[in-house]
Amino acid sequence: MSSTPTTERQPVSLQSERVPHRLAYFETYGCQMNKLDSELAEQALAEAGFSSTTEVSQADLVVINTCSVRDHAEHRVLSRLGVLKPGGDQRKEGSVLALIGCMGQRQGEQLFKAAPHLDIVAGTTDFIRLPELYAGVVKDRHHRTALDLSGDFDYARDPRFRSERHRAFVSIMRGCDLHCTYCIVPTTRGPEVSVPLQTIVDEVSRLVDDGVQEVTLLGQTVNSWGKQFKGEPDLGDLLAQLDRIEGLKRTRFITSHPNFFQDRFWERVRDLRTFCPYVHVPLQHGSDRVLKRMARLYTVDKYRCMVDEARESIPDVALASDWIVGFPGETEADHQESLARMREFDFFHSYVFKYSPRPNTPSERRMADDIPRADKERRCNELLAVQTELSQKHNDALIGRTLEVLVDGESKKNPDRLSGRTRLNRAAHFERPKGRELTGKMIPVTITRVTAHSLFGEIADRPADEIRKLPVVAPDYRG
Ligand code: SAH
Ligand code: SF4
Ligand code: F3S
Repeated sequence: MSSTPTTERQPVSLQSERVPHRLAYFETYGCQMNKLDSELAEQALAEAGFSSTTEVSQADLVVINTCSVRDHAEHRVLSRLGVLKPGGDQRKEGSVLALIGCMGQRQGEQLFKAAPHLDIVAGTTDFIRLPELYAGVVKDRHHRTALDLSGDFDYARDPRFRSERHRAFVSIMRGCDLHCTYCIVPTTRGPEVSVPLQTIVDEVSRLVDDGVQEVTLLGQTVNSWGKQFKGEPDLGDLLAQLDRIEGLKRTRFITSHPNFFQDRFWERVRDLRTFCPYVHVPLQHGSDRVLKRMARLYTVDKYRCMVDEARESIPDVALASDWIVGFPGETEADHQESLARMREFDFFHSYVFKYSPRPNTPSERRMADDIPRADKERRCNELLAVQTELSQKHNDALIGRTLEVLVDGESKKNPDRLSGRTRLNRAAHFERPKGRELTGKMIPVTITRVTAHSLFGEIADRPADEIRKLPVVAPDYRG
């Protein structure tokens, strides 16, 4: 099958920068791409002789991986940096403090003014240079900045560095070529660059050899992957290739843009064994007037055509959306359109955000942030209330069904229960059976009770309903 990971992998870089054994501590804010980047940074540090610690007080290097998408995300980090001041009770004396990721990329040197105790600021690709930057700071105690976004990011991932054994994120593209007027991401992550197909297949194969059953392919507009390669493969081609990897059980992908599903995408992926019919494809707003001011490049009607095509091929496809409330100039009538479209498209899940002007984005430069905070709050709550109603309805329909659950481990709220995710990405909880280790296993669970956000059930002694329909490699139902 695929290549096996070498246990004694040579460091890909920075060998000359090896440091004596040190401990690194990570705190990660923001999206899944940031979670993956923290794993890559951890790998780079391990290759230079670091181990990881979960205790900030023991760390020689404290790394904060940051998000800039809304003001609130940056504020959280700034107040956290305050707590990490030298002389406080959190950090070991002499330890090095590094800020990496989107906030580093956006603010660069300015951050040393806001937080003079920072030692390192690195961006969304240069974080990979942490070992060398750390060694420099230790040598002369001068701060370091690394913000180059221009080079290719072709860092060879070692599958051993990941936070969960049975699931993994795989970045298939970085950056974004669009210019949604509210969004800071194109600034912080640069232009779109796709990873070649074979590189992705090899990475997923190595992950599967190391126990991964579910991969989530990451990209800002993940369904525009591949267009610059010879023959213009698309996400559907990639999903079909990954489907052939024996041992891989599920593929997910986030985030899609409504415009970029290529010809017959839904029909082509429908029968793939690993395809999970839960698709995050943000509409952002229900009013064409607002979509235009956001420069989202589609109308509600165009989105509707995409949904129709998806549901024609996959009637029970579960769609998820992001929404922004309080975008500049949003009227009450515009907001009513968002509420109506949420119902019309019958979303399975939604994330609702209050508009936050980001420095130097087109909307910040050209439009006043004119919706009062209280209106943003109310509109946000109204959308959330409709989504709760829809989610409850979707979950009610699952009562009595037996679903395949990939078990993540002990439930956070109740140690007598295990929790996992269904193919449609719903959290499912069930009683922990005695004497069986089920973490990382696919288990059929019959749903007996639901809330709007979770499913509760019991282990079934028959295969899951959806599995019986699919041409599967035998599922590992035995504990
Ligand atoms: N690339 C993805 C995700 C971008 S960030 C996409 O385009 O869909 C995740 C979400 O944050 C966005 O979908 C949007 O809903 C929200 N968001 C982005 N910028 C924002 C801003 N300035 N204010 C409020 N929400 C924002
Ligand atoms: Fe935050 Fe967006 Fe950057 Fe992710 S890509 S870390 S959500 S700003
Ligand atoms: Fe790109 Fe998404 Fe923004 S498509 S411009 S990152 S909202």
